[in-house]
Amino acid sequence: MSTPAAPASPEARGRIVAAAGPVVRAAGLPRLVVGEIVRVGPSRLLGEVINLQPDAATIQVYEETAGLRIGDPVEATGAPLRAWLGPGLLGATFDGLQRPLAALAAAGAWTLAPGLEAPALDPQRRWSFTTRRRAGEEVGPGDILGVVAEGPFEHRILVPPDTSAGRLRAIETGDVTVHEEIGRLATAAGDVPLRLAHAWPVRAIRPSGGRLGAGEPLVTGQRVLDTFFPVARGGTAVVPGGFGTGKTVLEQALARWSDADVVVYVGCGERGNEMASLLSEFVELVDPRTGGPLLARSVLIANTSNMPVAAREASVQLGATIAEYFRDQGYGVALLADSTSRWAEAMREISGRLEELPGEEGFPAYLGSRLAHFYERAGRVVAQGTPERTGSLTIVGAVSPPGGDFSEPVTQASLRLAGTFWALDTELAHARHFPAIGWTQSYSLYVEPLTRWYREEVGADWDERRTEAIALLARERQLLEIVQLVGPDALPDEDRVALEAARLLREAFLQQHALDPVDAARSPRVQLAMLRAVLAARAGLGAALASGMLLEQALEAPVLQELRRAKGWSGDDVEARLTALAARLASWDRPGVGPAAGAPPGEGSAP
Ligand SMILES: Nc1ncnc2c1ncn2[C@@H]1O[C@H](COP(=O)(O)OP(=O)(O)O)[C@@H](O)[C@H]1O
Ligand SMILES: [Mg+2]
Repeated sequence: MSTPAAPASPEARGRIVAAAGPVVRAAGLPRLVVGEIVRVGPSRLLGEVINLQPDAATIQVYEETAGLRIGDPVEATGAPLRAWLGPGLLGATFDGLQRPLAALAAAGAWTLAPGLEAPALDPQRRWSFTTRRRAGEEVGPGDILGVVAEGPFEHRILVPPDTSAGRLRAIETGDVTVHEEIGRLATAAGDVPLRLAHAWPVRAIRPSGGRLGAGEPLVTGQRVLDTFFPVARGGTAVVPGGFGTGKTVLEQALARWSDADVVVYVGCGERGNEMASLLSEFVELVDPRTGGPLLARSVLIANTSNMPVAAREASVQLGATIAEYFRDQGYGVALLADSTSRWAEAMREISGRLEELPGEEGFPAYLGSRLAHFYERAGRVVAQGTPERTGSLTIVGAVSPPGGDFSEPVTQASLRLAGTFWALDTELAHARHFPAIGWTQSYSLYVEPLTRWYREEVGADWDERRTEAIALLARERQLLEIVQLVGPDALPDEDRVALEAARLLREAFLQQHALDPVDAARSPRVQLAMLRAVLAARAGLGAALASGMLLEQALEAPVLQELRRAKGWSGDDVEARLTALAARLASWDRPGVGPAAGAPPGEGSAP
């Protein structure tokens, strides 16, 4: 985070008059403003002013406060909590205050020295900057000045959003550090130096050139998400789930398989060792796009539960600021936060220390507005500046309701803000149905705005098949209730077929193992081809029974066995094979014969 120069004036120093956990009161600093960063105590711990009274300021300290005493010094810095944005972000792991953690993680340690000032971006590293402008050109906020190749990634260097427009006095290609000048801008207010990196206050939403509606999905490769409950690029998704229902596995699958250009992963308040294993796993993940490390287009922000609570909120805001910065470059960004509950709990703790009037279950009354401010940072936008480009920030926030009870305040407040609600179901997780996304509680408000995209890019029957599949699962629920009362034999053939088709839908379509070498992610077209095959099986089973075959016998038919194995199919012809299989399933009505003669290409090569 920002490391502003130490203030010189004597009135920029005050002293501690009270301290309770992470909350400290300081007197003798008349010029402080709310949101300003201060340095607290002899170790110069980082703190932020959250409240001002005539005689004292209330400060939340982002570091361990044990050992602070009344009378210890407090220094004003004159700057808010800021993120440093520039080359070197990708591949980095930061704490909530943007101090690099890589070295610590390697050593297995999780606590930084108190008051440590570690630059977010390596001040020595040189980057090769290629300008796209010429001296004399007029440029304004958000304009792309040039690019830096950060591995395979084109890092676009922008005129910072808070810099006024002006004429470029100089701009040069060359090898520079993040803080060296690449050029100068003559503005009405005087000359402004231009650099590869700039700082931005983490709580301030970065400006854009205008918001666009939902029009394209963030493709995740996960069937239950893309086909049943899609999220739009620039949309928001909330993933509530009790312990062990698969929140972390899902967030990681999204990091790896979604078609975002940049991934910002915020691990908030999970246990230290869990975070360590998450980070070491993340480092090993291979990017399916490049074959190189996924980390090359990711930024990790880690806050473990042994880090002080106040830093958790900072980590979420830091993540959003970094994500917006890449959005402004014209990229599709996914911000994955696991888990926002830990952040809400930190808010509750701080609020308790401040002796604020508690709301529901002790959470502060402003819980909802804080969450809203966070999710509002999602969006698909026309970026500010030239050349014209669009970028998106999609936010996926996990929620860990205690005991898996969705009626608790954080889940409820998040639900009101979510465009997509992916509800993880404890019963499904116990039954090892993964991803354990419950289809009755989950929803997506983006189905309608995305239908056109799906019809054009995936298949004209996409919404029809989707509706048919969801109706089949609803029918299954009703039938299972009847079966409980009267047993399966009382059901007419049509209903017994529906039950079997629903089982196929769950097992051969909805279940998707996150670590399967071929099935972990599927394109929307393959997803639709699979769904068509499952629904064709329903028709085929119905026809087989109508022609006199017994259900038990029909279920053994080789075509159905093939469908059950289709999740293992790989190669470029999977869609064609599924389409051929669907045709055979639909026309399968001759008892004892099974599939029609004439095997499709690739038959038998499945593992
Ligand atoms: N998509 C999936 N495929 C296979 N296994 C899964 C999947 N999702 C969850 N699991 C299983 O559930 C376990 C718990 O998931 P995790 O994401 O750690 O839960 P949470 O973060 O909600 O506590 C995982 O270790 C894994 O065994
Ligand atoms: Mg988890």
